[in-house]
Amino acid sequence: MSHPPTWVLGIESSCDEMAAAVVRDGREIAASCVQGQEDVHRPYGGVVPELASRDHVRAVSQVAERALALAGIGAEQLGGVAVTAGPGLVGSLLVGLSFGKALAYRLGVPLVGVHHLSGHLASAELADPTLRAPYLGLVVSGGHTALYRIDADAPPALLGETRDDAVGEAFDKVAALLGLGFPGGPAVARAAERGDPAAFRFPRPLADQPGFDFSYSGLKTAVATLVERRGALGDAERADVAASFECAAVDVLVERATRAARATGLDRIAVVGGVAANQRLRRELAAAGARAGFAAVFPPAALCTDNAAMIAAAGAQLLARGERHGVALNAYSRAPLGSSPWAG
Ligand code: KG4
Ligand code: ZN
Repeated sequence: MSHPPTWVLGIESSCDEMAAAVVRDGREIAASCVQGQEDVHRPYGGVVPELASRDHVRAVSQVAERALALAGIGAEQLGGVAVTAGPGLVGSLLVGLSFGKALAYRLGVPLVGVHHLSGHLASAELADPTLRAPYLGLVVSGGHTALYRIDADAPPALLGETRDDAVGEAFDKVAALLGLGFPGGPAVARAAERGDPAAFRFPRPLADQPGFDFSYSGLKTAVATLVERRGALGDAERADVAASFECAAVDVLVERATRAARATGLDRIAVVGGVAANQRLRRELAAAGARAGFAAVFPPAALCTDNAAMIAAAGAQLLARGERHGVALNAYSRAPLGSSPWAG
C-alpha cells in the first residue's frame, strides 16, 4: 500500500556550518545545503564562537528556504522538523534550534532534537541502505573520536574514546604548525599526497594497550617538537611531515577498529565524521578489513563533514518512534550519546 511521502526538514548549526536538508521517508535526500564560514574564521586560524553564531543568524532562513526550494516542496508539506540540540557551541546551536522551534510551531508539526553524533552515525545508514545493526560505529571528527557498538533498539554503547584531542583537531593543529591554513584536515591530506609517509616515525599512542581508547595529544606534540627543531621547512619536508603524521593518525584508527571487529565479532564498521573523508583512512581501513574479514562503510565525503541530511535522517527515526520535543527544548554544549539530557 502506498502512503504519502513524509518530508522532514533537518537543521544543523552546531559549529561553523549552517546546514538545512530535506529527507523523504527517512532515507532519501531530496535536498542538502551547507553554508560554510571558512572566510569568517580563516584570519583567526580557528572557529571564533561569537562570529559563528552571528553568521548563522544571517544565514539560517535563507539556507532553510534554499533546501525547501531544491526539494521542490513548500514548508506546509513538512511532516516534522529535526534540529541538532547538542553537543556543540551553544550560541551556534541556539540559532538553528530557535529557527526550528519557531517553524515547527507555526506549521503545527512535531519537533525533535537530534544528538550531533546520532546524526553522523545516521549518515552511514543514509549512504548504505543495507547497513543494519548490529555494527561498529567509528566517529572521527573535529570534536570527537569514539568507537561505539550499535545495536537495534538500544542506545549506542561506547567502547572507547579519545582521552585528549580528537583526531580532526590533531589534523587542524598540525595544519597550523605547518602553515597549511584553515580548515586543516583537507590541507594536511593534500600536502601528504606529495610526501613520504615513512620519512618520520611519529608515535602511535596507546597502540600496545588493551581497550579501545585513543590519544592524539602526544602525536601532535611530536610533530610540534620536530617542526620547532627543524626551523623553517621547505615544501618537500613539509609534505613529508604531513604524510608521516597522517600515516600515524590513520594507523591508530585502523588498529583500534580492527581490534574492535575481532573482539566483538562484528563484520561491519561505519566510519563517520569529517575525518572519514580522508582518503588514506578509506584505503587503509578497507585493506585491513579485507585481511581481517570486516567491511568498512564510508559515506560520501559530503555526508562525512557536518551536514543536515544526517540530522533529518536521524530525526525521522526518532519521529517514527513517536519522540517529540516541544518548545522547551534547549541547546547543550556537552551531551553523552545515548543518554542526552533531552533523550535524542
Ligand atoms: O564532522 P565535522 O565536519 O565537524 C565536527 O563535528 O567536528 O569534522 C570536521 C573535522 C575537522 O577537524 C577537519 O579538519 C576534518 O574533519 N577533516 C579531515 C578531512 N576533511 C575534514 N581530516 C582529514 N582528512 C580530510 N580529508
Ligand atoms: Zn560533526
